[in-house]
Amino acid sequence: MTNPAILPSIRCECGIIPALEMSSSSGNQEKRGGRVSAFRVVSALQCALRCIASTTRYYDFKLQNNTITKLCQTRNIITVNGLFPGPTIYAQEGDRVIVRVTNAMQYNASIHWHGVRQHFSGWFDGPAYITQCPIQPGHSFTYEFTLYQQKGTLFWHAHISWLRATVNGAIVIYPQSGVPYPYTFPYEEHVLILGEWWNADPEVLEKQILSSGGPPNVSDAYLINGHPGPLYNCSSQDTFVINAVPGKTYLLRIINAALNIEHFFGIANHNLMVVAVDGEYVKQFQTRAISIAPGQTTEVLVTIDKSCNGNYYMGIGPYMFANVSINSVPSLAILSCSSPSSAPSSIIPKPKLPGRNDTQFIRKYVRSLRSLSIADNAEPVPQTVDKSLIYAVGLNLNACPTNQSCGAPNNTKFEASINNVTFQRPPLAMLQAFYFGKNGSFTPNFPDTPLHPYDFTGNPPSNLQSFLGTKADVIKFNSNVQIVLQGTSLVSKENHPIHLHGFSFYVVGYGTGNFQPSDSTAFNLADPPLMNTVGVPAGGWVAIRFKANNPGVWFMHCHLEIHTSWGLATALVVKNGEKHDEILPRPPADLPPC
Ligand code: C2O
Repeated sequence: MTNPAILPSIRCECGIIPALEMSSSSGNQEKRGGRVSAFRVVSALQCALRCIASTTRYYDFKLQNNTITKLCQTRNIITVNGLFPGPTIYAQEGDRVIVRVTNAMQYNASIHWHGVRQHFSGWFDGPAYITQCPIQPGHSFTYEFTLYQQKGTLFWHAHISWLRATVNGAIVIYPQSGVPYPYTFPYEEHVLILGEWWNADPEVLEKQILSSGGPPNVSDAYLINGHPGPLYNCSSQDTFVINAVPGKTYLLRIINAALNIEHFFGIANHNLMVVAVDGEYVKQFQTRAISIAPGQTTEVLVTIDKSCNGNYYMGIGPYMFANVSINSVPSLAILSCSSPSSAPSSIIPKPKLPGRNDTQFIRKYVRSLRSLSIADNAEPVPQTVDKSLIYAVGLNLNACPTNQSCGAPNNTKFEASINNVTFQRPPLAMLQAFYFGKNGSFTPNFPDTPLHPYDFTGNPPSNLQSFLGTKADVIKFNSNVQIVLQGTSLVSKENHPIHLHGFSFYVVGYGTGNFQPSDSTAFNLADPPLMNTVGVPAGGWVAIRFKANNPGVWFMHCHLEIHTSWGLATALVVKNGEKHDEILPRPPADLPPC
């Protein structure tokens, strides 16, 4: 089990909040009449000195084999410390987190801290072959980062092959002590990790799928905190339960860690009050269900019905635009107002979730997401753009290797691309290549816009092939970047949750069809939501903006794992700035070699 050791310390930095209370002495405090003053304003520096009581949280993660029985079948899974889902990391804004990851299993490994912006700590971001080479069996690597200006719900997961199916867990970051929440303080809180389960080993599955070139296997179950729930074979006892008190308000920190499926989540007879997405506060709004894609997190408040005296189901059901076979059985968990031991009965009401192709619901839902501007530290919304990119995302049908037969239509193999470049895993981690100026990892010539534009969302072109390559767009430090993620009808229109490492971005606009430059006049530059994973609407586009103030190599990819396996990925290289504090520090000594 994880047992965070605690080491309090004080860190001070230039910020916009004049001062906060401090809990122990440091060089930045002034003694007045023998008492420690909590305030000090350094006006001469033209900024306020902000001192944060910062704690270092230590965790030990051991990747290991365990056996588990689900759906009446027993198999081996990879876990962290024997837990599935894995241990939760608890911290406060500004804390330092140190996690020693030991690989005591048979596969190469790496861990990504999804949504942690890794401010000047890009070596610890985790995606294999992007910021580091994998941790080999028998070896360990210690990740170290500061939760700089971040709070809320994030998560961690393995970032190599399909290991994240079972190697994932929550990151819960509380505000600094004394900093109020912008919503009703809940009576209790719970983490709900949504997952996806196969009876076969996902590591083996990925290899089979890639070598056959065909579509992914339909999963055998969806999970809530590792439990499929009563609609699945052998699972009526394998159901997650929250015991609730009538009339009380609960905070649910919902994380979609499923590999390949977007979900709707709802609770029978209850509305949800959405208060945060991807670890950032939003203006509260009520909804009967939320939409949540792999890579996204959502915090909701739910006030339990005063007359609740039995059980309600809460649950998830899939969203999939493309006409492909998926598992359509919802995973249910129980919200119980009766005694903890009461068994689920058939008369429990189920949540009414939107249907698997209810794109209308999602369209309305994402437009309700508005950032909450409180006196916060968040970067302002970039009002101007220095670097404007258009990334067309989609699937491809590529030639089957000779003497092989392939599982995609007309004996082709499925691949995927951005601007028709299918990302190939480099032999050397891209960040190392960039930092040490080594060739042979990637080329800095990723196309800013599609090289051969076409009617992206109209009738698909007859040639559905892509080019293979490892290319990156190179971006100047501190530039304001806009990326229009353009959906396509290549192979089929499909929803793609695109995740960017190293930054949160503002989602300034959505649309259907092909993006036109004139669409930017309708962008929301006032209160767009700040996110790290955004759904590109099937047959439409989404526009994001961020300030490239974090040097490093930042992976950007579809968080449907099968699409990443097929190459729907690229990386942004953000160069160092000129000042001494605008430069990526040296790599840690224990960075794994390739
Ligand atoms: Cu949550 Cu690159 O991933």
